[in-house]
Amino acid sequence: MNAVFPGSFDPITSGHMDVLTRASRIFDHVTVTVMHNARKQGRHLFTLDERLEILESATGHLENVSVDSFDGLLVDYMSRSSQDKGIIIRGLRAVSDYEYELQIAHLNRQIGDTETVFIMAATRWSFVSSSMVREIASYGGDISEMVPHASAQALRHKHADIYAERDMQQRAQRESRLP
Ligand code: PNS
Repeated sequence: MNAVFPGSFDPITSGHMDVLTRASRIFDHVTVTVMHNARKQGRHLFTLDERLEILESATGHLENVSVDSFDGLLVDYMSRSSQDKGIIIRGLRAVSDYEYELQIAHLNRQIGDTETVFIMAATRWSFVSSSMVREIASYGGDISEMVPHASAQALRHKHADIYAERDMQQRAQRESRLP
C-alpha cells in the first residue's frame, strides 16, 4: 500500500520527520508532496524549489520515500497520477490538531473519495511547528533540535546576518566571563 504525506513543509520539522519515518515503516512507498500555491507564493519563507531541496536532503536516508509537489486540490493530485498513490497521511501532535484534521479528512473524502490515516508524532515534538521554528530562527535562536539538519542549515542561511550577530554576541559574552 502506498501513501502520500502532503504539507507546506516550510520547512520540514523533526515532528514531520517523525511522522514520515513511522509512515515509511508501515507503507510500501510514501510520497512527501509539497503544496505549491502559485497565488500565495509570498506567504512562504522558502520557495518551492528550496523546500523540495531541503526535503530531498532530509529524506535521502529513507529508501521508500520520494519527494514531489502539487498545486491545487490535494484530491486532484491524488487522482491525477496513473500510479496508485494510496492514502493520505497526516500527523497529529495533540488533540488540538484533531478537529481541524478531521474536517479536512472528511472534506477530502467527500470531494475525492480519499482515505486519510493519522499518525501521532512522538510527544517530544508536540510543541514544534514550522511557524514557531521560523519565528525562533528569525531571531537567531537555536532550532537545531526541532528540525532536521537540512532545515537548520537552510534557516541559518536565510537569516545569516542575524545568526552571525548572535554568534558574535555569545562569543563576546563567553570571553567576558573568562578569568
Ligand atoms: O502543512 P500544512 O500547511 O498543514 O498542509 C496543509 C495541506 C497542504 C495538506 C492542505 O492545505 C491541502 O491539502 N491543501 C491543498 C488544497 C486542498 O486540497 N484543500 C482542500 C482541503 S478541504
